Amino acid sequence: MFSDRVKSIELSGIRKIFDLAQGEVINLGLGEPDFQPPEVVKKALAEGVMRGYNKYGPSKGFPELRELLAEKYSKYTELAADNVLVTVGATEGFMATMQSIVNPGDEVLYPDPGFVIYNPHIRIPGGRPVSYPLLQENEFVPTQEDLEKRITKKTKAIIVNSPNNPTGGVLTDAAIKMIIDLAEDNDLLIISDEVYFNLVYEGEPKTFLGKYDKLIFVNSFSKEFAMTGWRLGYLIAPKEYIEQIGKIHYYTVACPMSPIEYAAIVALKEAPNYVFEMRKEFRKRRDLMYSLLRDIDGVEPNLPKGAFYMFPRVNVDDVVETVKDVVKEGVLCTPGNAFGTNAIDHIRFSYAASEEDIKKGMEIFAEVVKKHRKN
Ligand SMILES: Cc1ncc(COP(=O)(O)O)c(C=O)c1O
Repeated sequence: MFSDRVKSIELSGIRKIFDLAQGEVINLGLGEPDFQPPEVVKKALAEGVMRGYNKYGPSKGFPELRELLAEKYSKYTELAADNVLVTVGATEGFMATMQSIVNPGDEVLYPDPGFVIYNPHIRIPGGRPVSYPLLQENEFVPTQEDLEKRITKKTKAIIVNSPNNPTGGVLTDAAIKMIIDLAEDNDLLIISDEVYFNLVYEGEPKTFLGKYDKLIFVNSFSKEFAMTGWRLGYLIAPKEYIEQIGKIHYYTVACPMSPIEYAAIVALKEAPNYVFEMRKEFRKRRDLMYSLLRDIDGVEPNLPKGAFYMFPRVNVDDVVETVKDVVKEGVLCTPGNAFGTNAIDHIRFSYAASEEDIKKGMEIFAEVVKKHRKN
């Protein structure tokens, strides 16, 4: 009864592991800020509803919102509202992108470890996902050799994600240039997932925007304004890409959610610095978690340069069994195999949690690691 397409994909098994936890948990498994949206933005949502923004809006998003987004990124390149498509989270932006560019048999490069949607989003329109490794010894930055040897005549696009989930890695200027050179030489599209854009701990964001013409920049209000549940994202791309991707978007969601767009306009105008307040907190928690993990025998943490994840390598008999035991002890975290095949000896911890939870969580983790430590 079901299509081959749907039968070829599966939901992540992580929930099953999280279900092992009983009672109160320390949640270091979260993929979202533990903050609420700014007060002014919460009020704006209620106001939008009361003022009657409850009807269908323009399919590509409110013109004012598209203009504000174009303006926000205009320091990187010349942009107008026509270059912006407002989507239902970055997730829908990705799906509409893939449906618009991938023909059956096309190959798309994507990072492994990487965010869980890339592989199925390539496969659903009939594409072939080709993963490239991100390794701790290279600070989770891909090498030219690893990318080059995966490019064939069928390669259509490369997905990049910096700051990265799950590794916390950030691409260097040199890596960005190397990827753009490869894309230019091989006539590839670059799809750049920059949902953690402003969550960098050293210097300015390092973006692909303005550096390559065949670029689809994917971003979201989810992390920057702590509004993951409101489901609002956006794409920035050449106008003709927005026109084409906008067709799939129209037939999928009709339009974004009007009251949320109303609130998003207020977010951009009145809370542009909110993310930097969160970033200050995240930095403290990152440093805390890093120092605690470093003291555990058998655990090799990386010092992440962005996002809010730590992705240490752990020297234990079995990572999934270790994670299951950690979860049974009430601390949620995610085994590396949830993010692909190249980092099965890693565990992802989110530090979007209170300092108290991080301290308790690391204590419990240290005890469990002792039991599973490889000799
Ligand atoms: C790297 C990355 N891209 C995209 C998303 C999805 O974002 P959105 O909530 O805007 O759909 C996430 C969410 O965790 C993510 O980590």
